[in-house]
Amino acid sequence: MPPTESLSPLERKQPLSIVVIGASGDLSMRKILPALFALYCQHRLPEQFHIVGFARSDISNEHFRDMIAKGLTCRYSSADECEKQKAEFLRRCTYVQGEYDDAESYRKLHQELSHMDPAGKENRIFYLSIPPFLFLDVARALAKADLVHREQPSGWSRVVVEKPFGSDRASSDELTNEMGKVFDEVQTFRIDHYLGKEVIQNLMVLRFANLIFDPVWNRRYIHSVSISWTEQIGLEGRAGYFDKYGIIRDVMQNHLLQILALVAMEQPVAYEAGYIRDEKVKALRCVPTLEMKNLVVGQYTAGPGQVGYLEEPGVPRHSITPTFSAAVLHVQNRRWDGVPFLIRAGKAMNTSMTEIVIRFQNVPGNIFAKNMGHLSTNQLRIRVQPDAGISLRIANKEPGLRMSLNDSVLDLSYASAFQEVIPDAYESLILDVVRGDGSLFIRGDELEAAWDIFTPTLHELDDTHVKPRGYAFGGTGPEAAHQLAARYGVTW
Ligand code: BG6
Repeated sequence: MPPTESLSPLERKQPLSIVVIGASGDLSMRKILPALFALYCQHRLPEQFHIVGFARSDISNEHFRDMIAKGLTCRYSSADECEKQKAEFLRRCTYVQGEYDDAESYRKLHQELSHMDPAGKENRIFYLSIPPFLFLDVARALAKADLVHREQPSGWSRVVVEKPFGSDRASSDELTNEMGKVFDEVQTFRIDHYLGKEVIQNLMVLRFANLIFDPVWNRRYIHSVSISWTEQIGLEGRAGYFDKYGIIRDVMQNHLLQILALVAMEQPVAYEAGYIRDEKVKALRCVPTLEMKNLVVGQYTAGPGQVGYLEEPGVPRHSITPTFSAAVLHVQNRRWDGVPFLIRAGKAMNTSMTEIVIRFQNVPGNIFAKNMGHLSTNQLRIRVQPDAGISLRIANKEPGLRMSLNDSVLDLSYASAFQEVIPDAYESLILDVVRGDGSLFIRGDELEAAWDIFTPTLHELDDTHVKPRGYAFGGTGPEAAHQLAARYGVTW
């Protein structure tokens, strides 16, 4: 079953309850509920669906709907049509106030769900939009309240969880095992929202639906791969979460490693969830643990008009949590042996962008070497955000009477090439949850392999209290990160 498509006529007919636990929070209001609305506008939800928000805030249905309405945008229908759709969508949203560990609250939720199907046999999605330390309590309470369907003839139940899934291999394993007592692996959808981004979804198409990249996608032709993620903003009030996890656990171990897996993996047997994830796991298992000598960690200091990390509200004065990290990983298999994969993630930087750059080797015995100002190599640049696009740098003759060569770029910019609305990552991912397609979600063994790459290094950083290098807010990160890249002949 290919990912991110429409529901079948049968799926459209099956009633669905979507329970958003932690519904009054930021993620729910900014991403989950707007994505559900966007799917509704595109007729991609079942005809009978009901959204139940569950959270601690004491708010009425009306208040909940007002909060949701503020985040809804009209991208898929005309203004008039969209207003009607908003009214209908909001009518289907209700709210249950409750405590996450209180049985009585879940009885209220049970009652609310029975409006959809008094027999309790409708399909159910539980979206846990709550801090991870609550996952288990909530999962167990849902099971205890008999809200989770495990067997036919009831409808199905699925659970959606957001990272961080633990903070190292051991805590992640424990979470997986305990959650597994309530939800089977096939019922569990671990979101990494980067996998839902349009350009990331295109990576497999680029590699496996085009012949021209296949022969050169290996150590013989590729010099290095770099995957860079930067953000201009700092903490934005997330000290409580961020200081506990840091940038390696927040972005590198998941978003960037997933991108690496998609670049490095072999072609799956078929375009199906199980096969895709098998290949990603295989690629990740070929990556040895990150070595300290290949890691630079940084923490932002004050910059023009901006406070440094240690002055941010809620951050302990002596925190050594990294807000920047640059690392070099290797994929030790026949395809990639010797090719460095440079990955970098930084907050409070000079730009906000995510991109993958594949640098090719020099042309051996290049007969045009003397005609080029400088010898540059081919570069395939895959720009995830902003300005989604793919470009290929080639050597080209400058028009004119001289044989003079320069770099030119073959450029596919999504904004100019496509008229279509680019869906938000959450739209694709939530649609896949409804369809039961796990292709773009992290399977348990993938998670293990990802933690194995970083766990020993993370422990060493913690145990030896490695102090991150300072870099100014709004700059390009610590100098040492540039030196690390230079060691591998790369400029970030
Ligand atoms: C989240 C991280 O997973 O991704 C945040 O927790 C980060 O720290 C965010 O800001 C970036 O996502 P996006 O989609 O805005 O690039």
